[in-house]
Amino acid sequence: MFRSIRHRLALFTYSWHAIGPASMLRNSVRWSADAEARAVDSGFDARYGTDTNADLTPGEADILIDRHHAATMYLPTMDQDLAAMLAALPWPESLRRDATFIDLGSGKARVVLLAAMQRFRQIVGVELSPRLHLAAVRNVERVRDAGALVSPVRLVHGDATAFDAPPGPLVTYLYHPFREPIAALVMDRLVASLEASPRPAAILYCHPALQPGFHPSVFGQRDVFQLAVEGGRQTRGFLLGWSVWTNDAWLDRTTIPVPLVSGAGEA
Ligand SMILES: C[S@@+](CC[C@H](N)C(=O)[O-])C[C@H]1O[C@@H](n2cnc3c(N)ncnc32)[C@H](O)[C@@H]1O
Repeated sequence: MFRSIRHRLALFTYSWHAIGPASMLRNSVRWSADAEARAVDSGFDARYGTDTNADLTPGEADILIDRHHAATMYLPTMDQDLAAMLAALPWPESLRRDATFIDLGSGKARVVLLAAMQRFRQIVGVELSPRLHLAAVRNVERVRDAGALVSPVRLVHGDATAFDAPPGPLVTYLYHPFREPIAALVMDRLVASLEASPRPAAILYCHPALQPGFHPSVFGQRDVFQLAVEGGRQTRGFLLGWSVWTNDAWLDRTTIPVPLVSGAGEA
């Protein structure tokens, strides 16, 4: 009871800063509408004995106070939304299997687990909150013990702005984890890594339409990524938007074919 009042207060303060009082009033119905959809989605935890369903503000997740306004609250991605984004990724199966799937802001590892049930080179989850990271470690152990993972998983407790992308093709997933200035820093680092070592990369980004999504220029930095597909999900007034970005066109421009060296037999 006391926890519930404290939680409601934390949510109220968080929403006040995240979307503002006017939008809170307009959208209270929409929040509850998605709560219904989320209740249906809690089947994941029932199936695997995990604990991924929660809504925790940055304060409740023990994120340091100076980062509260830069981080968003924890909510797991719904299975159907990740499935829709992966289905929209215009990559051949062979390229996908060779890619590292990275969830920046991985929370309790719902997406990490769903991705690790498919074939990728490896799955990496990066999470700032110590509390969520610990929960993620436990969740991964449970599902691994149940034999349900087909790809290796690495969980990193740290800040996405300091994460170095591994070599090889990359699929980077973001469920609106932080505010736009942090997203710009993260993208700058990713783009610098691709410029230093050009390779196929994709971004899967989704956000509740209640909060303004990142401006396209965040992903379009230095013309490396282009929008490939957009989509969304609507349930009784709640709207979730998503977009898939790829770097194929940039890669074609950047990867210059090696010129043929004249052979000794040529005149
Ligand atoms: C909306 S939740 C998404 C959780 C998970 N990706 C999923 O879709 O199920 C966003 C997560 O990003 C984390 N986060 C916020 N800022 C971060 C940062 N700078 N570095 C790493 N994680 C961060 C939050 O703690 C939260 O767990």
